[in-house]
Amino acid sequence: MCGIVGAVAQRDVVEILIDGLHRLEYRGYDSAGVAVLGEDKTMQIVRRVGKVKSLEQAVNAKPLLGGTGIAHTRWATHGEPSEINAHPHRSGHIAVVHNGIIENYQELKEQLQTRGYMFQSQTDTEVIAHLVEWELRSAKTLLEAVQKAVVQLRGAYGTVVMNEQDPERLIVARSGSPLVIGYGVGENFLASDPLALLSVTRRFTYLEEGDVAEITRRTVSIFNRVGEPVEREIHEGNFEADAADKGQYRHYMQKEIFEQPVAIINTLDGRIKDGKVDIQSIAPNAVEILSNVQHVQIVACGTSYNAGMVARYWFESIAGVSCDVEIASEFRYRKFVTRPNSLLITLSQSGETADTLAALRLAKESGYMAAMTICNVASSSLVRESDFAFMTKAGVEIGVASTKAFTTQLTCLLLLNVALGRLNGHVSEEQEHHIVQALQRLPTQIESALVFDKQIEKLSEDFADKHHTLFLGRGEYYPIAMESALKLKEISYIHAEAYAAGELKHGPLALIDSEMPVVVVAPENDLLEKVKSNIEEVRARGGQLYVFADNDAGFENATGFKTIVLPKVDEVTAPIFYTVPLQLLSYHIAIIKGTDVDQPRNLAKAVTVE
Ligand code: M6R
Repeated sequence: MCGIVGAVAQRDVVEILIDGLHRLEYRGYDSAGVAVLGEDKTMQIVRRVGKVKSLEQAVNAKPLLGGTGIAHTRWATHGEPSEINAHPHRSGHIAVVHNGIIENYQELKEQLQTRGYMFQSQTDTEVIAHLVEWELRSAKTLLEAVQKAVVQLRGAYGTVVMNEQDPERLIVARSGSPLVIGYGVGENFLASDPLALLSVTRRFTYLEEGDVAEITRRTVSIFNRVGEPVEREIHEGNFEADAADKGQYRHYMQKEIFEQPVAIINTLDGRIKDGKVDIQSIAPNAVEILSNVQHVQIVACGTSYNAGMVARYWFESIAGVSCDVEIASEFRYRKFVTRPNSLLITLSQSGETADTLAALRLAKESGYMAAMTICNVASSSLVRESDFAFMTKAGVEIGVASTKAFTTQLTCLLLLNVALGRLNGHVSEEQEHHIVQALQRLPTQIESALVFDKQIEKLSEDFADKHHTLFLGRGEYYPIAMESALKLKEISYIHAEAYAAGELKHGPLALIDSEMPVVVVAPENDLLEKVKSNIEEVRARGGQLYVFADNDAGFENATGFKTIVLPKVDEVTAPIFYTVPLQLLSYHIAIIKGTDVDQPRNLAKAVTVE
């Protein structure tokens, strides 16, 4: 959730650290801090509440210089966002930054207090600083002290340790929270995401679980969880530097909404051959695995969970395979029965969501025939730990509200359904061609939905003074309504809920009055007449209706409510298509409300803690 950057160089690294924090700010943004060691070998620490900008202003006001440094942007878990709780934390000559949660911190804290350590903050991180300081008293090196300290920690951490008395060295340790090392020439770096270091390097090593590494200007030595020296691969190039640039757009979210046609083109690229899904492109052994699948269990969180909910309709109607979808934080803590020949699918933009990762680890011991992930980050833990990964190619998604990750997940899920259905005889050649062509037309159709931006912006004015909104849909549009409600609450702070439209009269109808906006997704399909009846139920009770439909749905001359009449698109891909105008609606409402669209309060992009 938080972001880490570090550097050991012969030049001043403060600018590099602050630039890295700006690039990582999407991960957490309630406070930030930096610690550097200058030529005089004294450590200087600056911490500020708020965004990286406040830290930058403080650093500019009182120049900070140093060739070795660590920096952090925080998303509070233990202790309120305050200067005292911001990282780096210090103990004697030691400074520490940390991502994750130390579960046994209370126990360690009491132990350290009996040894005379005084705690300044309410954070769990401070125990790491004191623990390393304590171990260093008997260890020969900082590396040894960190190795001795981390074995005492329970929970998830990515941590970096700096020692004032050993100024050209940083020690990093990873367990459950990602860290990469970036290689320069005569200087080396580290971060929780390579994105942070794109201004200084394109050569990275991803640390593995349990790794501890020692970084100096000229050397990087990595040790595995039992302390043996290990070689880890260096990955080069092909990182999207432009991703951190908003270009012509006001917000990353807006940019990412508009990038969806290209994101879908990229996701389809190489996956279709001669008008059919190239099953080999899913994974080299996909034919063998998918041929035996009799049940699909999807596990995910947030927007990715909503994508799974859409896919459930597809697995049962297209591939003819039963499918369950569960929120990862529930799945991981309940007793479940694994059905024979079940494929586990995790869905995740980041590939680092703690609950999803824990669910994958649990499922791997629970008799699933294979664990597949549909994910957007190739270097992520989910990709590395799954049996195979089907990558969404959305490109880096920075806005905390997930947009293009969702529509590309759905693209992958539809391709997967066709593959599965062909292999089990449920999808005919004709049907496969039809779905593939619909997918190929989708990017252009989404372009045509984006044209409605101005009209949707106008509509959004009606929501400026609203405190609640209901979203309704039937069939696959129920999870699209769920996703729309999640988007709206997340970025505009308006309470929003989604209902399967048929559920309305079982309770939520009581909420309807002239103050309640109700957004209905109502394209022309087999369920349209049912949805129209639900619209009438709302209208009869004075609800304010906003209907997203197509020009075959018969709403052109509708009176008493507002409509966005979109072009008619292929029924199978229409749920993906309708997502886009609804994303725009939330975006424009958030703009009117004046919220921080890309970094909504209390949230973080990658939820790497439970
Ligand atoms: O990276 P993941 O897809 O695993 O993330 C899951 C959720 O945390 C994420 O989708 C979250 O709900 C988004 N902020 C929603 O826009």
